[in-house]
Amino acid sequence: MSEPYYDVIRPHGGVLTDRVLRGEVREAVRERAEHMVRVPLGRMGLSDLELLATGAFSPLTGFMLKADYDRCVEEMRLANGLVWSIPVTLAVEKDLADHIREGQEVALCEGERVLAVMEVAEKYPYDQQVKEREAREVYRTIGEDHPGVARLYRQGDVLLGGDIWLVDWPSACKTEFPELRHTPAQTRRMFARRGWRSVVGFQTRNPIHRAHEYIQKTALEIVDGLFLHPLVGETKKDDIPAEVRIASYQAILRDYYPAERVILGVFPAAMRYAGPREAIFHAIARKNYGCTHFIVGRDHAGVGKFYGTYDAQNIFDEFPAEDIGIVPLRFEHAFYCKKCGGVVSAKTCPHGPEDRVFLSGTQVREMLERGEMLPEEFTRPEVARVLLEGMKRRNDG
Ligand code: ADX
Repeated sequence: MSEPYYDVIRPHGGVLTDRVLRGEVREAVRERAEHMVRVPLGRMGLSDLELLATGAFSPLTGFMLKADYDRCVEEMRLANGLVWSIPVTLAVEKDLADHIREGQEVALCEGERVLAVMEVAEKYPYDQQVKEREAREVYRTIGEDHPGVARLYRQGDVLLGGDIWLVDWPSACKTEFPELRHTPAQTRRMFARRGWRSVVGFQTRNPIHRAHEYIQKTALEIVDGLFLHPLVGETKKDDIPAEVRIASYQAILRDYYPAERVILGVFPAAMRYAGPREAIFHAIARKNYGCTHFIVGRDHAGVGKFYGTYDAQNIFDEFPAEDIGIVPLRFEHAFYCKKCGGVVSAKTCPHGPEDRVFLSGTQVREMLERGEMLPEEFTRPEVARVLLEGMKRRNDG
């Protein structure tokens, strides 16, 4: 029997891009690349390269050219009009840029290893003024106390734009959750094999707590499958490390979710903490993985107090639904209410704040650091135990 074909939702822009070279062409290009100028990639660059190569960033075929970058920053669209809310750019130091001219092919490297070639179609300035415009428009602040903005300012002062072709995978593909690192082409096949006609994607950078479980399961009541897709690229230092989080997801899936209705995968992207803009970006990437729906809860991809609780939901109203093409499922802030005896939200619970069990991310991390068990109303004990063990192992070095 032939493989079921997944035609439920088209990738962004219509075609799933594939920038991975194979066979003889790959060998030839790899050999040629040994003689090219080398451009080192940082952790976010490596993530972006993988996402570009696999089609998770369809329709992008490389790092952005100036016209795409400018329109993305100013209007959340590519030069051709497609919605795109977060720049995907390659910044380099000026010294290196001086050795590269437009039209030249360069080798994108992880340490000594060549991973991809890029034809530098454009080289354009990324000075402080340009960075501040990006910070203001994309992150809604120019303050360095925002982790995404701080990273932006640390980058080199020149952007290189052009198409990429992958000849070798970043080392993380082999060392970090290889069995969960499904590409969009793979997840589309996995969904099709299960006969799912609707799939809700869930982005997270935190361990699963009961409010997450509540919104995921509420969504599951109306769609066929849940694609649990935690981000495992670069996060800020005080976020819980990915390996601890993944162990916690596996624990909760084993004990509390119907196996045939959930697929766990990892999203290799770096976290930007750009709140509303990143919610659109997260949704479109999950559309490329084959999701038809995407959960956007309270302060999605937010950090500190930079964004309003529902800004990341409201931003979807700025676009015609068909321009996004994946349905955002919006959830109010959910919490455990002692009087209701379950997880609820202000939409469903009449009781006051005194009956709620709420812990902030910082409180959770502090409790785990102290080796304290989290309250059962907040996190399933199976998950809390995995988190405690994981943090202890990490702290013991
Ligand atoms: S994120 O930075 O990856 O968005 P997080 O892991 O905290 O962070 O959240 C994952 C998803 O769950 C996001 O859509 C977020 O809005 C949602 N979410 C987190 N906590 C709650 C909550 N208590 N109530 C409703 N939605 C929530």
